[in-house]
Amino acid sequence: MADNKATLKIGDKEIEFPILEGTAGAAVIDVRTLGASGYFTYDPGFMATGSCESQITYIDGAAGVLLHRGYPIGELARDADYLEVCYMLLHGEAPTTEEYEKFKLTITNHTLVHDQVNNFFRGFRRDAHPMAMLCGTVGAMASFYHDDLDIVDPEQRLRSAYRLVAKMPTLVAMCYKYNIGQPFVYPSNKLSYAENFLNMMFSVPAEPYKISPAVSRAVDRIFTLHADHEQNASTSTVRLAGSSGANPYACIAAGVASLWGPAHGGANEACLNMLEEIGTVDRIPEFINKAKDKNDPFRLMGFGHRVYKNTDPRATVMRESCHEVLAELNIDDPLLDVAMELERIALSDAYFAEKKLFPNVDFYSGIVLKAIGIPTNMFTCIFALARTVGWISHWHEMLSQPGQKIGRPRQLYTGHTQRPFNKIPK
Ligand code: SDX
Repeated sequence: MADNKATLKIGDKEIEFPILEGTAGAAVIDVRTLGASGYFTYDPGFMATGSCESQITYIDGAAGVLLHRGYPIGELARDADYLEVCYMLLHGEAPTTEEYEKFKLTITNHTLVHDQVNNFFRGFRRDAHPMAMLCGTVGAMASFYHDDLDIVDPEQRLRSAYRLVAKMPTLVAMCYKYNIGQPFVYPSNKLSYAENFLNMMFSVPAEPYKISPAVSRAVDRIFTLHADHEQNASTSTVRLAGSSGANPYACIAAGVASLWGPAHGGANEACLNMLEEIGTVDRIPEFINKAKDKNDPFRLMGFGHRVYKNTDPRATVMRESCHEVLAELNIDDPLLDVAMELERIALSDAYFAEKKLFPNVDFYSGIVLKAIGIPTNMFTCIFALARTVGWISHWHEMLSQPGQKIGRPRQLYTGHTQRPFNKIPK
């Protein structure tokens, strides 16, 4: 870390702060001592605030670069599978073949959930949104793993991480089966991670289910493309919840809740609903104009990003996957035509260029998920399934760091100053 400094002049006072430099990206001004001056920084939405030091994922928003432990996302999507990415996010390095096989066996042997979890579902309405059920059941997992859980022990933290990575597909598939009134399908240890998920989603006890290699490859790639993304809203939620020492399953439930929002992980569901509302290519200009109208709260779902300002590298890979899957499954989905034309028009429109709005990861993922038969209301559950490893890797990293403190932001107070309370006659 460099020892150069930043000087803040307030009135006749000058306060110096160290500038810390990482291995890549923006240096940071270390303002941890600022509070003593009577001033706080003010940055709602954390547009220019570093909340932590991390070595897991790096994004260069201007260059459209996404690295997991230094490995470019395009290479991982092409040459690795999701469990390899899970291993490197959790352990810091890509696994050797031996480490990969051991990790895969560990995950496979933790895919079952406690049979009483089935009972939690009985309390939901059949038409409950899958994200509501996922949020509830992931949080309920804390009731099975709490008493003997010591999160100070890195081995026990990793065991929680393995359990969560292993059980999320089972829970997500249970949400879907509960919605459609079909029996839950137990995990099968002879299938790969993605195949097992598809089998739990789409097989029925009455007949064998044939898994398409193209579909399981696409699902595994979608998991990889959604695995982690620096300090996004849901990851920051998990870190803040975990900073108090809360149970990791409860922290992941908090991440699920944050991801649900349409501005975040809920965008893939919202994007597909938008494409379906647009319906045909000739209606695209009407929606482009709505998105540009300052008086209209409508936003083009699947466009724009807080960090990427030219391209979301995941969308590039997802776009390729989208065409591969539709071609392999011989699906001619008019929504893809609408999506392609919407992308073309949006990217040629001055407003979108000025606001640096382009398709993000959610734009194409919804089309791929729809093509492989996943219902729209399940899209964000798939995102949560994939992102769980990112969330729990950040939780593990945070608790591994010396001097870790509970997160406790301050505020700019603009409410009433002190005034007397007048007791009312009762
Ligand atoms: C994810 O953080 C992450 O890493 C998230 C994520 C991850 O992997 O974890 O990448 C996953 O959440 C991807 C983003 C998915 N969300 C959407 O697709 C929803 C649509 N996009 C927008 O809501 C928006 O672009 C955000 C939330 C993604 C980013 O918003 P910002 O950076 O806070 O920008 P902003 O809302 O301040 O908008 C800046 C300007 C505004 O206009 P002005 O007020 O300057 O005139 O751009 C406009 C906005 O009105 N704008 C849009 C727009 N997004 C921003 N206008 C139309 N359509 C849009 N989609």
